[in-house]
Amino acid sequence: MSKANCSNVASFYAGKSVFITGGTGFVGKTLIEKLLYSCSGIDKIYVLVRDKYGKQASERLARVTSTPVFDRLKTSKNEELKKIVVISGDITRENLGLHEDVLKTLENEVSVVFHLAATVAFKLPLKDAMRINVNGTENVIELCRRMKKLQAFVHVSTAFTNSDRKEINEMVYPMPINLEEARHVADTYSHDDVIVSAFMGKKPNTYTFSKAFAEQQVMKQCEDLPTAIIRPSIVMSSIKEPCPGWIDTWNGSTGLFVGMPAGILRVVLGRGSNVTDLVPVDIVTNLIVVAATECQKSKEIKVYNCCTGTSNPITCDEATTISRKVALKYSLNELPWPFLMFTPSVFLYTLITFLLQIVPAYLIDLWCILTGRKATQIKLQRRLKKVVDAVKFFLLNEWKFSDDNIRDLLKTMSPVDKEIFNFDVKTINWETCIEDYILGARKYLLKSEK
Ligand SMILES: NC(=O)c1ccc[n+]([C@@H]2O[C@H](COP(=O)([O-])OP(=O)(O)OC[C@H]3O[C@@H](n4cnc5c(N)ncnc54)[C@H](OP(=O)(O)O)[C@@H]3O)[C@@H](O)[C@H]2O)c1
Repeated sequence: MSKANCSNVASFYAGKSVFITGGTGFVGKTLIEKLLYSCSGIDKIYVLVRDKYGKQASERLARVTSTPVFDRLKTSKNEELKKIVVISGDITRENLGLHEDVLKTLENEVSVVFHLAATVAFKLPLKDAMRINVNGTENVIELCRRMKKLQAFVHVSTAFTNSDRKEINEMVYPMPINLEEARHVADTYSHDDVIVSAFMGKKPNTYTFSKAFAEQQVMKQCEDLPTAIIRPSIVMSSIKEPCPGWIDTWNGSTGLFVGMPAGILRVVLGRGSNVTDLVPVDIVTNLIVVAATECQKSKEIKVYNCCTGTSNPITCDEATTISRKVALKYSLNELPWPFLMFTPSVFLYTLITFLLQIVPAYLIDLWCILTGRKATQIKLQRRLKKVVDAVKFFLLNEWKFSDDNIRDLLKTMSPVDKEIFNFDVKTINWETCIEDYILGARKYLLKSEK
């Protein structure tokens, strides 16, 4: 390969080993695939996986690599998969629960750490959210400290750690609450929603509250480590890699982009004119990969707001118009006239839901029962209600995320790297991106033919 065609990012990873937490998750598995696909000189990828549901870590990772996200790698570079080394452990345990010999290997071999493991459940009891997101992050930092070759520690946070502000810069904002106090409340009152929510103040849920504390601990404990914080907004399907539309989670907005085109979701709590900050998963993973190559030891830890709202905004209404076109183009609607209304009024939302969703669902289910078919509509409505409840905070509010660090990082990249590791959100074409999202969710989550 001539020098002009050479990727500086891929060269950075050549001969290096990396350690990943959260590799069984949506973003984590997409990251592993990208590293193996585009950084073929990489030595090993150590992936921390918990034993869960009676299944051992190795068995669980084998299931992950059998998912479609790894299809392109298997087709063209199957041998790369041998670089994955699964490590059984848990971020909430001291030393991640690793045996001394495994710790020694990591200490001596790993140059880059990607910390993605987290609970993303919004309403987990505060005690559990703090244990996973804060204690877990501290344990990973402890391990980083022992790594002799460490060149980068990338902590994946969320853009909504500071959702109590309207303008969010690429900096860590100090928490107004003392961590020990937060731990005390978490240990003592975790199951008392009233006390916990009053204590959390303007933070809307235990997820953003605990992730904000995790960021604070990264800032406090990583001054002498080469560190970066990546803050994605709401992660959606891929625009390009490993294929357009790849998605394997119902988290985030996915339920809306399935329910609306099907014609079974007619109204949500939100404001149509608000910018909806969605970001494709491959934009996120490319940024994670590139940010590691620029990590520096610094008091001012580099934060990257991985968001679309500033450089390539799309409103809820615009996203809905595109979704409607897609529904009609592919005849995805099970009920006629797919459309979606946004209202900030709980009364209107409840009324319209009852008239246009619940009543038709009961009628369809009744018809199914009478004709000997399976009744599914009311069950679907219950699920949609959970989705709407989960995302209403993000649809009723709007934020301005600065993305100067992202734009600056892009300027340092060669044309080859910009092509291979694209994270420029200005390149997103929302028409195709949303079409792929809807079709991808149907293909990979619903296993639907169309
Ligand atoms: N998806 C989004 O919209 C979004 C938006 C902003 C930020 N983020 C951030 O991106 C990161 C990845 O999110 P995701 O969407 O990929 O989440 P995900 O699909 O729920 O994956 C979470 C990962 O964390 C692992 N994990 C949880 N607790 C663990 C523990 N105690 N020990 C070891 N591993 C543990 C899970 O392992 P198991 O398989 O064992 O459960 C899984 O691999 C998170 O830090 C999240 O906060 C995500």
